[in-house]
Amino acid sequence: MTIQASTVNRAADSPKIHGVNVVFDGLSKTYETREGGEVLALGRTDLTISPGEFVAIVGPSGCGKSTLLSLTAGLAGVTAGRITIDGEEVRRPHPTMGVVFQTDLLLYWRTITDNIMLPVEIKGWDKRKYLPRVTQLLEQVGLAGFGGKYPNELSGGMRQRVAICRALVQEPRLLLMDEPFGALDALTREQMIADLQDMWMSLRNTVLFITHSIEEAVFLADRVLVMSPRPGKIDLDLKIDIARPRSWKSLGDQKFINYMGEIRAIFESRGILSKASA
Ligand SMILES: Nc1ncnc2c1ncn2[C@@H]1O[C@H](COP(=O)(O)OP(=O)(O)O)[C@@H](O)[C@H]1O
Ligand SMILES: [Mg+2]
Repeated sequence: MTIQASTVNRAADSPKIHGVNVVFDGLSKTYETREGGEVLALGRTDLTISPGEFVAIVGPSGCGKSTLLSLTAGLAGVTAGRITIDGEEVRRPHPTMGVVFQTDLLLYWRTITDNIMLPVEIKGWDKRKYLPRVTQLLEQVGLAGFGGKYPNELSGGMRQRVAICRALVQEPRLLLMDEPFGALDALTREQMIADLQDMWMSLRNTVLFITHSIEEAVFLADRVLVMSPRPGKIDLDLKIDIARPRSWKSLGDQKFINYMGEIRAIFESRGILSKASA
Protein backbone atom coordinates (compact mmCIF):
# COMPACT_ATOMS: atom_id res chain seq x y z
CA MET A 1 0.00 0.00 0.00
CA THR A 2 1.32 3.33 -1.02
CA ILE A 3 -0.44 6.61 -0.53
CA GLN A 4 0.07 8.62 -3.67
CA ALA A 5 -1.15 11.96 -4.80
CA SER A 6 -3.84 11.78 -7.45
CA THR A 7 -4.47 14.41 -10.07
CA VAL A 8 -8.17 14.93 -9.25
CA ASN A 9 -7.77 18.22 -7.53
CA ARG A 10 -4.71 19.82 -9.03
CA ALA A 11 -4.50 22.16 -11.93
CA ALA A 12 -2.09 21.08 -14.66
CA ASP A 13 0.02 24.14 -13.96
CA SER A 14 -0.01 23.71 -10.17
CA PRO A 15 3.27 24.76 -8.60
CA LYS A 16 5.63 22.09 -7.40
CA ILE A 17 5.06 23.05 -3.80
CA HIS A 18 1.44 22.56 -2.88
CA GLY A 19 1.69 23.64 0.78
CA VAL A 20 0.72 26.81 2.61
CA ASN A 21 2.80 29.14 4.75
CA VAL A 22 1.89 29.16 8.45
CA VAL A 23 2.96 31.85 10.92
CA PHE A 24 2.45 31.79 14.69
CA ASP A 25 2.90 35.26 16.06
CA GLY A 26 3.03 35.73 19.83
CA LEU A 27 0.58 32.90 20.19
CA SER A 28 -0.64 31.64 23.55
CA LYS A 29 -3.64 29.78 24.89
CA THR A 30 -5.25 29.76 28.32
CA TYR A 31 -8.21 27.52 29.07
CA GLU A 32 -10.81 28.34 31.63
CA THR A 33 -11.58 25.36 33.80
CA ARG A 34 -15.09 24.44 34.90
CA GLU A 35 -14.15 25.41 38.46
CA GLY A 36 -13.43 28.94 37.26
CA GLY A 37 -9.65 28.58 37.27
CA GLU A 38 -7.25 29.10 34.40
CA VAL A 39 -4.76 26.76 32.74
CA LEU A 40 -2.00 28.21 30.62
CA ALA A 41 -1.76 25.39 28.07
CA LEU A 42 0.52 27.03 25.53
CA GLY A 43 3.16 29.61 26.41
CA ARG A 44 4.23 32.31 23.98
CA THR A 45 4.98 30.74 20.61
CA ASP A 46 6.55 32.42 17.59
CA LEU A 47 7.15 30.26 14.58
CA THR A 48 7.19 30.34 10.81
CA ILE A 49 6.53 27.23 8.76
CA SER A 50 7.44 27.45 5.09
CA PRO A 51 5.20 26.21 2.30
CA GLY A 52 5.74 22.50 1.80
CA GLU A 53 7.65 21.99 5.03
CA PHE A 54 7.13 18.82 7.08
CA VAL A 55 7.26 19.80 10.75
CA ALA A 56 7.04 17.31 13.60
CA ILE A 57 6.27 18.34 17.17
CA VAL A 58 7.34 16.19 20.10
CA GLY A 59 6.81 16.90 23.75
CA PRO A 60 5.61 15.36 27.00
CA SER A 61 1.96 14.61 27.61
CA GLY A 62 -0.07 17.70 28.49
CA CYS A 63 2.44 20.22 27.11
CA GLY A 64 -0.03 21.76 24.66
CA LYS A 65 0.63 19.86 21.42
CA SER A 66 -3.03 19.15 20.68
CA THR A 67 -3.84 22.71 21.68
CA LEU A 68 -1.38 24.06 19.11
CA LEU A 69 -2.93 21.81 16.50
CA SER A 70 -6.52 22.76 17.23
CA LEU A 71 -5.64 26.46 17.19
CA THR A 72 -3.97 25.98 13.78
CA ALA A 73 -7.03 24.06 12.61
CA GLY A 74 -9.25 26.98 13.61
CA LEU A 75 -11.18 24.71 15.96
CA ALA A 76 -10.33 26.72 19.08
CA GLY A 77 -9.69 30.42 19.56
CA VAL A 78 -6.33 31.89 20.56
CA THR A 79 -5.98 33.79 23.84
CA ALA A 80 -3.22 36.07 22.58
CA GLY A 81 -1.33 36.58 19.35
CA ARG A 82 -2.41 35.21 16.02
CA ILE A 83 -1.94 32.51 13.45
CA THR A 84 -1.89 33.28 9.75
CA ILE A 85 -2.08 30.87 6.84
CA ASP A 86 -0.77 32.37 3.62
CA GLY A 87 -1.07 35.76 5.28
CA GLU A 88 -4.68 35.36 6.33
CA GLU A 89 -5.61 35.19 9.99
CA VAL A 90 -7.09 31.88 11.08
CA ARG A 91 -10.63 32.34 12.36
CA ARG A 92 -12.21 29.12 11.13
CA PRO A 93 -10.96 25.87 9.59
CA HIS A 94 -8.90 26.55 6.50
CA PRO A 95 -10.63 25.35 3.32
CA THR A 96 -7.66 23.30 2.11
CA MET A 97 -6.96 21.63 5.43
CA GLY A 98 -7.03 17.93 6.31
CA VAL A 99 -6.97 16.81 9.94
CA VAL A 100 -6.27 13.47 11.58
CA PHE A 101 -7.00 13.38 15.31
CA GLN A 102 -5.74 10.97 17.95
CA THR A 103 -9.00 9.05 17.73
CA ASP A 104 -10.58 8.34 14.39
CA LEU A 105 -13.85 10.27 14.95
CA LEU A 106 -15.63 8.40 12.18
CA LEU A 107 -19.40 8.79 11.93
CA TYR A 108 -20.77 5.38 12.86
CA TRP A 109 -23.95 5.72 10.80
CA ARG A 110 -22.04 6.32 7.58
CA THR A 111 -20.25 3.77 5.44
CA ILE A 112 -16.48 3.93 5.11
CA THR A 113 -16.79 5.52 1.66
CA ASP A 114 -19.25 8.12 2.95
CA ASN A 115 -16.95 8.89 5.88
CA ILE A 116 -14.03 9.52 3.53
CA MET A 117 -16.31 11.63 1.28
CA LEU A 118 -17.25 13.95 4.14
CA PRO A 119 -14.84 16.79 3.20
CA VAL A 120 -15.94 16.54 -0.44
CA GLU A 121 -19.59 16.72 0.61
CA ILE A 122 -19.01 19.65 2.94
CA LYS A 123 -17.46 21.58 0.08
CA GLY A 124 -20.36 20.73 -2.18
CA TRP A 125 -18.11 19.06 -4.73
CA ASP A 126 -19.27 16.31 -7.04
CA LYS A 127 -18.93 13.09 -5.05
CA ARG A 128 -19.01 10.91 -8.18
CA LYS A 129 -15.84 12.58 -9.40
CA TYR A 130 -14.07 11.56 -6.19
CA LEU A 131 -15.19 7.92 -6.13
CA PRO A 132 -12.09 6.67 -8.01
CA ARG A 133 -9.90 8.66 -5.60
CA VAL A 134 -11.61 7.04 -2.60
CA THR A 135 -11.20 3.58 -4.12
CA GLN A 136 -7.52 4.34 -4.79
CA LEU A 137 -6.93 5.58 -1.24
CA LEU A 138 -8.64 2.52 0.30
CA GLU A 139 -6.49 0.27 -1.86
CA GLN A 140 -3.37 2.13 -0.83
CA VAL A 141 -4.02 1.71 2.88
CA GLY A 142 -4.87 -1.97 2.48
CA LEU A 143 -8.63 -1.57 2.79
CA ALA A 144 -9.76 -2.37 -0.75
CA GLY A 145 -13.34 -3.63 -0.71
CA PHE A 146 -14.19 -2.08 2.68
CA GLY A 147 -15.95 0.99 1.27
CA GLY A 148 -19.44 -0.35 1.93
CA LYS A 149 -18.76 -1.41 5.51
CA TYR A 150 -19.51 0.58 8.65
CA PRO A 151 -16.92 1.76 11.21
CA ASN A 152 -18.01 -0.77 13.86
CA GLU A 153 -17.12 -3.59 11.45
CA LEU A 154 -13.46 -2.48 11.39
CA SER A 155 -10.63 -2.75 13.92
CA GLY A 156 -9.20 0.35 15.58
CA GLY A 157 -6.17 0.38 13.30
CA MET A 158 -8.34 0.04 10.21
CA ARG A 159 -10.58 2.89 11.34
CA GLN A 160 -7.57 5.13 11.86
CA ARG A 161 -6.46 4.36 8.31
CA VAL A 162 -9.92 5.42 7.13
CA ALA A 163 -9.51 8.68 9.05
CA ILE A 164 -6.22 9.23 7.23
CA CYS A 165 -7.93 8.61 3.87
CA ARG A 166 -10.59 11.16 4.84
CA ALA A 167 -7.88 13.74 5.56
CA LEU A 168 -6.15 13.04 2.25
CA VAL A 169 -9.14 12.82 -0.07
CA GLN A 170 -9.01 16.49 -1.04
CA GLU A 171 -5.18 16.60 -1.22
CA PRO A 172 -4.97 19.17 1.56
CA ARG A 173 -2.47 21.98 1.23
CA LEU A 174 -2.23 21.87 5.01
CA LEU A 175 -2.23 18.49 6.74
CA LEU A 176 -2.56 18.45 10.53
CA MET A 177 -1.96 15.14 12.28
CA ASP A 178 -2.27 14.55 16.02
CA GLU A 179 -0.47 11.32 16.99
CA PRO A 180 -2.14 9.59 14.05
CA PHE A 181 -0.26 6.30 14.31
CA GLY A 182 -0.44 5.79 18.07
CA ALA A 183 -3.20 3.19 17.84
CA LEU A 184 -1.69 1.17 15.00
CA ASP A 185 0.16 -2.10 15.35
CA ALA A 186 3.91 -1.82 14.81
CA LEU A 187 4.04 -3.15 11.25
CA THR A 188 1.10 -1.11 9.97
CA ARG A 189 2.60 1.91 11.65
CA GLU A 190 5.97 1.52 9.90
CA GLN A 191 4.19 1.10 6.58
CA MET A 192 1.97 4.13 7.14
CA ILE A 193 4.96 6.29 8.08
CA ALA A 194 6.80 5.31 4.92
CA ASP A 195 3.62 5.90 2.89
CA LEU A 196 3.09 9.30 4.44
CA GLN A 197 6.61 10.23 3.37
CA ASP A 198 5.84 9.11 -0.20
CA MET A 199 2.61 11.10 -0.22
CA TRP A 200 4.37 14.19 1.04
CA MET A 201 7.20 13.86 -1.46
CA SER A 202 4.78 13.78 -4.37
CA LEU A 203 2.35 16.38 -3.01
CA ARG A 204 4.69 18.70 -1.09
CA ASN A 205 1.98 20.00 1.20
CA THR A 206 2.66 21.62 4.56
CA VAL A 207 2.43 19.06 7.34
CA LEU A 208 2.21 19.62 11.09
CA PHE A 209 2.69 16.22 12.63
CA ILE A 210 2.37 15.64 16.36
CA THR A 211 3.91 12.57 17.90
CA HIS A 212 5.40 11.33 21.14
CA SER A 213 7.80 9.15 19.13
CA ILE A 214 11.22 10.71 18.60
CA GLU A 215 11.88 8.11 15.93
CA GLU A 216 8.73 8.99 13.96
CA ALA A 217 9.60 12.67 14.17
CA VAL A 218 13.17 12.27 12.91
CA PHE A 219 12.13 9.81 10.21
CA LEU A 220 9.45 12.06 8.76
CA ALA A 221 10.28 15.68 9.39
CA ASP A 222 12.35 18.43 7.83
CA ARG A 223 12.23 20.06 11.19
CA VAL A 224 11.50 18.76 14.67
CA LEU A 225 10.16 21.10 17.34
CA VAL A 226 10.64 19.91 20.90
CA MET A 227 8.22 21.36 23.42
CA SER A 228 8.80 21.90 27.11
CA PRO A 229 6.37 20.61 29.75
CA ARG A 230 3.26 22.72 30.37
CA PRO A 231 2.93 25.53 29.71
CA GLY A 232 4.44 24.30 26.47
CA LYS A 233 6.97 26.37 24.60
CA ILE A 234 9.27 25.43 21.80
CA ASP A 235 12.58 24.51 23.38
CA LEU A 236 14.43 23.20 20.37
CA ASP A 237 13.93 23.79 16.67
CA LEU A 238 16.02 21.13 14.97
CA LYS A 239 16.49 20.93 11.22
CA ILE A 240 16.73 17.31 10.05
CA ASP A 241 19.19 17.23 7.20
CA ILE A 242 18.79 13.68 5.92
CA ALA A 243 18.20 12.86 2.26
CA ARG A 244 14.85 11.44 1.14
CA PRO A 245 13.35 9.02 0.67
CA ARG A 246 14.36 7.86 4.13
CA SER A 247 13.98 4.20 4.96
CA TRP A 248 13.73 2.17 8.15
CA LYS A 249 17.12 0.73 7.33
CA SER A 250 18.69 4.18 7.54
CA LEU A 251 17.54 4.52 11.17
CA GLY A 252 20.85 2.91 12.05
CA ASP A 253 22.82 5.65 10.26
CA GLN A 254 24.95 7.92 12.38
CA LYS A 255 23.01 11.04 11.38
CA PHE A 256 19.73 9.52 12.57
CA ILE A 257 21.31 8.40 15.81
CA ASN A 258 22.77 11.85 16.44
CA TYR A 259 19.48 13.66 15.86
CA MET A 260 17.57 11.26 18.08
CA GLY A 261 20.27 11.60 20.74
CA GLU A 262 20.00 15.39 20.66
CA ILE A 263 16.24 15.24 21.25
CA ARG A 264 16.50 12.55 23.93
CA ALA A 265 19.11 14.64 25.76
CA ILE A 266 16.58 17.46 26.15
CA PHE A 267 13.96 15.09 27.56
CA GLU A 268 16.53 13.55 29.87
CA SER A 269 17.67 16.93 31.12
CA ARG A 270 14.09 17.61 32.22
CA GLY A 271 13.68 14.20 33.77
CA ILE A 272 11.03 13.23 31.21
CA LEU A 273 13.09 10.31 29.91
CA SER A 274 15.36 8.41 32.19
CA LYS A 275 18.77 7.47 30.81
CA ALA A 276 17.79 3.82 31.08
CA SER A 277 14.74 4.19 28.83
CA ALA A 278 16.58 6.46 26.41
N1 LIG B 1 -10.70 22.25 26.91
C1 LIG B 1 -9.81 22.33 27.93
N2 LIG B 1 -10.14 22.91 29.09
C2 LIG B 1 -9.24 23.00 30.11
N3 LIG B 1 -7.97 22.56 30.03
C3 LIG B 1 -7.60 21.96 28.90
C4 LIG B 1 -8.49 21.81 27.78
N4 LIG B 1 -7.80 21.17 26.78
C5 LIG B 1 -6.57 20.95 27.26
N5 LIG B 1 -6.44 21.42 28.51
C6 LIG B 1 -5.22 21.38 29.34
O1 LIG B 1 -4.20 22.05 28.62
C7 LIG B 1 -2.96 21.36 28.73
C8 LIG B 1 -2.46 20.97 27.34
O2 LIG B 1 -3.32 20.00 26.77
P1 LIG B 1 -3.06 19.35 25.34
O3 LIG B 1 -2.91 20.42 24.34
O4 LIG B 1 -4.13 18.35 25.11
O5 LIG B 1 -1.64 18.62 25.56
P2 LIG B 1 -0.92 17.45 24.75
O6 LIG B 1 -1.64 17.26 23.46
O7 LIG B 1 0.49 17.91 24.58
O8 LIG B 1 -0.98 16.23 25.62
C9 LIG B 1 -3.23 20.18 29.63
O9 LIG B 1 -2.86 20.51 30.92
C10 LIG B 1 -4.72 19.97 29.53
O10 LIG B 1 -5.23 19.39 30.70
MG1 LIG C 1 -2.54 15.57 22.64
